[in-house]
Amino acid sequence: MTHQPMPSHRFDRLFETKFLYAPKTVQNQDIQSISQALDSKTPLFLEIGAGKGKHAMLFASSNTDKHLIAIERTREKFNAFQKQADLGEFKNLTVIHADAIAFCAHFIAPNSLDGVFILYPNPEPHNKNQRWLNMPFFEFLLSRLKVGGLITIASNIESYMDEACQRLDEVWRLPYTKRAIDPASARTHFEIKYLARGENCQEIIVTKPAGYQTRFDHVLVKEQAV
Ligand SMILES: C[S@@+](CC[C@H](N)C(=O)[O-])C[C@H]1O[C@@H](n2cnc3c(N)ncnc32)[C@H](O)[C@@H]1O
Repeated sequence: MTHQPMPSHRFDRLFETKFLYAPKTVQNQDIQSISQALDSKTPLFLEIGAGKGKHAMLFASSNTDKHLIAIERTREKFNAFQKQADLGEFKNLTVIHADAIAFCAHFIAPNSLDGVFILYPNPEPHNKNQRWLNMPFFEFLLSRLKVGGLITIASNIESYMDEACQRLDEVWRLPYTKRAIDPASARTHFEIKYLARGENCQEIIVTKPAGYQTRFDHVLVKEQAV
């Protein structure tokens, strides 16, 4: 009989990978560089919606002992990012043009990430189900995180952050800290724009505690949870 883990959260809907095809834009060399990072036990980080890559390149240059996979879905932004990343010749940065959900389902193993960055995500005002903490994918993402791993979420929209905290408390049941972002911070293009307008940017840092269970902890890439 298959062991059914009791999840630590209260999110019912199950992430479905059945119709998620491997993004064709992911190159063999990208997969090789991620595998090498994993084999060498280099701490692995993921950035979802990296835009033109300002944060990713800052992170890679100041954390040469860590590897970052930075994913951007929009071709124009990805192209601008890739161009700058090529000039920087970063050995510890893999730049991916893909949908992050399909990418993770196919290429990120359980318990492999030390941290995830989701910086200024689209607020999805007309479709709240598309917000990261409201999606079944979030459970899958948690399963890819190591114990003690961190998810950093930043936004300029107070109601988005309040909703995220409510979901973390009541649904995901995860510990986190929330703080205002220093007005001098300049990690991403959107952060610079919002802070220049005098907007209140905030950051939530979520920690995955020991013993936290999801229905995907033993699901390798492209397998469905039992
Ligand atoms: C508001 S922008 C923020 C970009 C960047 N993080 C910044 O702060 O400057 C959100 C970005 O997330 C990207 N994005 C949204 N959903 C995505 C997904 N499922 N996979 C990859 N990128 C995604 C969008 O294309 C967009 O570039």
